[in-house]
Amino acid sequence: MVDPVSVAVGAVLTLVVVAVHYTSGTGWEPSEDISQSVIEQRASTVPETEFPEPYNRSIGGGGGTAAIPAGEGGAELEEGEEEEDEGFDPSAIAEDEVEHYEIEYAKEGETIEVANNETILDAGEDEGWDLPYACRQGQCVSCSGQIQDGNATERIRHSNNEALFEDDLEDGYCLTCVAYPTAEFTIETGEQP
Ligand code: FES
Repeated sequence: MVDPVSVAVGAVLTLVVVAVHYTSGTGWEPSEDISQSVIEQRASTVPETEFPEPYNRSIGGGGGTAAIPAGEGGAELEEGEEEEDEGFDPSAIAEDEVEHYEIEYAKEGETIEVANNETILDAGEDEGWDLPYACRQGQCVSCSGQIQDGNATERIRHSNNEALFEDDLEDGYCLTCVAYPTAEFTIETGEQP
């Protein structure tokens, strides 16, 4: 037999425990919102600049900038080359505007025809020659060659040049991986400034 008194006492005790639990709470309290003060503190560490966003994000070490080669020629190259290369996209040359030039590869002992939408490096490799290269993007000088008797900019166009100074170009050096002919010439491959 179930004792009704015991059942009643048990129910009352259960209700008391539940009531005490909810009235005393869990003890957890939300922490203070410090996001605004963190933002203000970080902002105070960034020097004042007149640059509009997003340029000033790199100030104070936040953003990377490309290394600028030392030397007088370097600064001139940065500006001059950007202008020269700007807008030059060899893949945009129309079929009927493709021209070919006789290029003599001195060390290989041969003269071949290279189109103005083909790099000096690619054309040489098509002949089966083992020409030097690394990045193939105009960012190192591994593929560099020297055009004989003249300023390289008068005989080739670079689609990208991040490695050669203007002085180097004047001495005939070019990056064969991104150099497209605009005239006939003789080149010594594997020559670096
Ligand atoms: S392979 Fe690096 S610039 Fe040509």
